[in-house]
Amino acid sequence: MKILVLHGPNLNLLGTREPEIYGSMTLGEIDAKLVELGKSLGADVKCLQSNHEGGLIDALHDARTWANGVLFNPGGYTHTSVALRDAIAAIGIPVVEVHLSNVYAREEFRHHSMISAVCKGKVIGFGWRSYALGLRGLLEAG
Ligand code: DQA
Repeated sequence: MKILVLHGPNLNLLGTREPEIYGSMTLGEIDAKLVELGKSLGADVKCLQSNHEGGLIDALHDARTWANGVLFNPGGYTHTSVALRDAIAAIGIPVVEVHLSNVYAREEFRHHSMISAVCKGKVIGFGWRSYALGLRGLLEAG
């Protein structure tokens, strides 16, 4: 199994970005944990981050050619991007939506996701462990 872990805008700043909301682990540390977890579950995990909507769309299109599934935290684009939703619907491989924070306990504009309806499932609110749980879900039920 090959899995793409895709992180959207501002997630490169994890570790120093609002740690009371997002935790103190850096993106590099999270990615290392996911690669390690993937290995222990027999999966090859590749991690990418982009601050650009088009870069995220290109990564999703490319994943279609090599990945069995995608773990995706689109950051702020979650709440705005029809283009990301269309890309997920187009690629035909399972995508699991991931958020570090519980978006429903935050501002109202974070309560709507443009992508949930075209995702296989969604894990939110468990900090970096949202990704770990999403990876297990993707591997066991994707
Ligand atoms: C986030 C939640 C989004 O609302 C926010 O814009 C982010 C991070 C999360 O992981 O909790 O950038 O996706």
